[in-house]
Amino acid sequence: MQYGHFDDDAREYVITRPDTPYPWINYLGCNDFYGLFSNTSGGYCFYRDARMLRLTRYRYNNVPTDVGGRYFYLRDSKDGDVWTPSWMPMKSKLDRYECRHGMGYSRIASARNGLAFSQTSFVPLDDKCEVHKVTLTNESNAEKNIDMFSFIEFCLWNANDDMTNFQRNFSIGEVEVHGSNIYHKTEYRERRNHYAVWAVNEPVAGFDTDRQAFLGLYNGFDSPQAVFDGKSKNSIASGWAPIGSHHINAKLKAGESKAYVFVLGFCENPEDQKWEKPAVLGSAGVINKKPANELLEKYSTAEAADKALAALNEYWKNLLSKFTVDAEDKKMARMAGIWNQYQCMVTFNMSRSASYFESGIGRGMGFRDSNQDLLGFVHLIPERARERILDIAATQFPDGSAYHQYQPLTKRGNNDIGSGFNDDPLWLIFGVASYIKETGDYGILDEKVPFDNNEAIADTLFAHLKKSFYYPVLNAGPHGLPLIGRADWNDCLNLNCFSKTPGESFQTTANYESGIAESILIAAIHAFVGPDFVEICKRTDRNEEVSAAEKAIAKMIDAVNKHGWDGDWFLRAYDAHGKKIGSKECEDGKIYIESNSFSVMAGIGLEDGRAEKALDSVKEHLDSPYGIVLLQPAYKDYHIELGEVSSYPPGYKENAGIFCHNNPWVTIAETKLGRGTRAFETYTKICPAYREDDSDLRRMEPYVYAQMVAGKDAVNHGEAKNSWLTGTAAWTFVSISQYILGVRPVFDGLLIDPCIPSSMKGYAVTRHFRGADYHITVDNSAGAEKGVKSVMLDGDPLKAGESGWVLPVFGDGKAHQVVVVMG
Ligand code: BGC
Ligand code: NOJ
Repeated sequence: MQYGHFDDDAREYVITRPDTPYPWINYLGCNDFYGLFSNTSGGYCFYRDARMLRLTRYRYNNVPTDVGGRYFYLRDSKDGDVWTPSWMPMKSKLDRYECRHGMGYSRIASARNGLAFSQTSFVPLDDKCEVHKVTLTNESNAEKNIDMFSFIEFCLWNANDDMTNFQRNFSIGEVEVHGSNIYHKTEYRERRNHYAVWAVNEPVAGFDTDRQAFLGLYNGFDSPQAVFDGKSKNSIASGWAPIGSHHINAKLKAGESKAYVFVLGFCENPEDQKWEKPAVLGSAGVINKKPANELLEKYSTAEAADKALAALNEYWKNLLSKFTVDAEDKKMARMAGIWNQYQCMVTFNMSRSASYFESGIGRGMGFRDSNQDLLGFVHLIPERARERILDIAATQFPDGSAYHQYQPLTKRGNNDIGSGFNDDPLWLIFGVASYIKETGDYGILDEKVPFDNNEAIADTLFAHLKKSFYYPVLNAGPHGLPLIGRADWNDCLNLNCFSKTPGESFQTTANYESGIAESILIAAIHAFVGPDFVEICKRTDRNEEVSAAEKAIAKMIDAVNKHGWDGDWFLRAYDAHGKKIGSKECEDGKIYIESNSFSVMAGIGLEDGRAEKALDSVKEHLDSPYGIVLLQPAYKDYHIELGEVSSYPPGYKENAGIFCHNNPWVTIAETKLGRGTRAFETYTKICPAYREDDSDLRRMEPYVYAQMVAGKDAVNHGEAKNSWLTGTAAWTFVSISQYILGVRPVFDGLLIDPCIPSSMKGYAVTRHFRGADYHITVDNSAGAEKGVKSVMLDGDPLKAGESGWVLPVFGDGKAHQVVVVMG
C-alpha cells in the first residue's frame, strides 16, 4: 500500500496520511544549520555538530516513536476542543492531512472542524535558524477564537550529556523572556558564547519556559495542561527542563487567514560582548541580544519568510539543473534527477552523524564515508567538495593511514575510534580523482595539507595521494594482498579482534594481530582506483612516478589472480590464521558480494571469463527480489575470528543483509560486461521508488535509499532500515548516471558510454560540465544493451577516440546538442 505519491513538477513527495509505517523525514538546511523534520513535525535541529551544538531535544527509541519536535497545539475556545494539527503528539483526528517534503523544506497542511492549518518549515540559505511559517484559516461560516500554543524543548547543547548527566543538568537550565522572544541561555554564564532564541513575529498572550509548568509533571506531550486550560503559566525555567512555548490568541472571522512566522535561531556573541548587563549578586546577567535582534528582524514578516523560501527553491532548481533525466521510466527519472541527488547532498552534509538511526552523538565525519559521499556530490557544488577533500586529507597520518573519523567542529581526527581501517587511504584517491574529472582543477594537488592536522608536517595533496596509493602496497601480507587492519570497507569483518567481552567495540579492539589477515577487496579497490592515480601522475608531469605505480597495480592484480580466485568467484579475505573467507571451503560465508563486484569493476577476470562467472555466481547465490545480499550462507553463530559480521542475526546488516551500498558495485560491474538488462535490474531492486506501493513491508521513505534491507534469511525479508545516511546514495548515483545512462566525467571530457536494458528505447540527459551544458539524447531503437554507433555533436559527427566517445570540454557557457545512436 502507498502512503503518498511523488509530485515531480514540485520536486516533492506528498504524504497523504500521517500514520506512515515509520516516521518519514526530511532534512532542512544546506550549509551549517540543520533540522531533521518528520511528517508529523518531529525531529530536532543543531548547528554544525549534532552532538555538541544541539538546540532541541529529541528522544530516540521512545514510546511512542518520534517524540520531540516543533509542535503547535490548537484550542477552540468555543468548546475547548484541543488538537495537534501535525497529528502527533496527540494523534488528533484530522479532517484533512498532507505533508509535502521538498528540497530543503517541508509543509504540513491539515484541517479540523473548519480550521485549516499549514506549517512551512525550512532553514534559510544564509542564516542559522529554522523558520516555521504557520497559517491559520477559518474555513467555517462563523468567527473562531483560537488559542495556539507553540512548543519546543531545549537541549542543553551537548546531546550526549543532555540525556545522561542529570545530576548536573537539572540545576543548570536558564532562560530569558522578552515579549515574544524566548532565549535559552544554559551555560552561557560560563564558557558558551552562544544561546538560542525561539520567537514569533506577533504579540503573545502568554508563554512558558518550564516543561513541568506547561505539561504537568505526569502528563505527556499529548496532554499539556496549559493548553487544556487555555492559558499559559508564564513560567520561567530555573534548572529542570527549559522549553519554549508561546500562547497566541487568534480571532478569525469567517474566511479569514492569518500567518505567523516562528524562528528558532542560533546566536553567537564575541567573548567581550556577551552581556548587555553583567550579573550582580541577586540578579542574573542579561545576554546581549544584538545577533538575535538582527536575525529576527530579517524574518519579521510572512513576505520575508516567503522570499527566503523562494530563494531556497531557486537554489535547488539551479543545483538540480546540473544533471537532469527525461525517460519513459518515471521512477528512474525522478530518482536519478531529483531524489538521489538530494540524498547525496544530505549524506555530504551529515556524513553518518544524524538521522533517525544515527543519534548524532556517536559518529563524526568518516574518512571513507565522506570520500565516497563526494562521488555523488561533486557535480553539484565542486567548491564545497574541494574544501571537504582538504579537510579529510588533513586527518591522514604521515604513513598514509588515516583517522577513521574526524569531528566536524574541530576538523581533527577522532582518537576514540582511531585508525587502522586499511581501505581508508584508497578512498582519498576516489575523492580527488572524481573532483579533478569533474572540474579539471589539477591545482588542488599542489595545496599544502597537514598530516595528522599538524601544519609542521604539511605536504602537497599529491604527496597525500601517493601515500594513499602505496599504503596497501607497503602493508601487504603473505599472499601479497593488503593487510586488512581493523577492517576494510566492511566495518564488521574484524579479523584481528577476537572479542569475548560483551559490549566491547569490535571496531576498536585489536588483540590478535597475527599480521597475516588480508583483504581481497582492498586489492580490488587498489586495482580499480590505481589507474586514476597513474593518470594524475601523467597529466601533472610526474612521469617518474608512472612506471613504479603501474608495476604496483600489476602486482596487486597478480596477487588477486594467484590467491584471490576460488573457482567460481573471488575470495573475500584470509583470516588471522591464514584461513580463507568467502570460499567454498567455508561452512558459512562461502561467497561475499564486495570482492566480486569490485574485482570485476577493476576489470580483473574480464579476459578469461572469470568476471562473468563471478557475477553469475553473485546472481545465483546472493540475489533476492529486494536486492543482493552481502554474503551467503549467513553466519548462524558467532565466530570470534570474524568479529561483528557474525554477531548479527542471519539476514541483518553485514550478516547477509541486503547492504544496499554495495549493490551499485554489482550494477557497475554488470555494465563492464555489457549486460544492461541485468545492470538495470540490480539498480531497480534497491531503488525505493519502485517499492512505493510495498510500503507496509519496506517501511522506510519511498524517496530515499536505505542502508540495509533485511536479507533472505531474515524474518522480515524486504523490510528496510537505516534510511538516508548511507554510501548507497553516492554509489547509486554514480551507477545510474555514469554507467547505466553512461554520461561519465573523465579527465579529458564527458564520456558517453550507455549500458541499458534492450527494452529501453531512449532517454535524454542534460549535464552541466566544466562551464557548459550538454543536452544529450540517446536513441536506442536498435534495442542494444551496450555500444554506440554514432554521436553527433552540434550537428557534426564525433569520432570515437582510444577511450571511447568523449565529448570535449567547451567551457563556453553555451548549450551543446549531442545525439547518440546506440547499436
Ligand atoms: C555496523 C556497520 C557500521 C559500523 C561502524 C556496525 O555496527 O554494522 O554498518 O559501519 O558499526 O559504526
Ligand atoms: C556503514 C559505514 O558507514 C561504512 O563506512 C561501511 O563501509 C559500511 N557500514 C559497511 O560496514
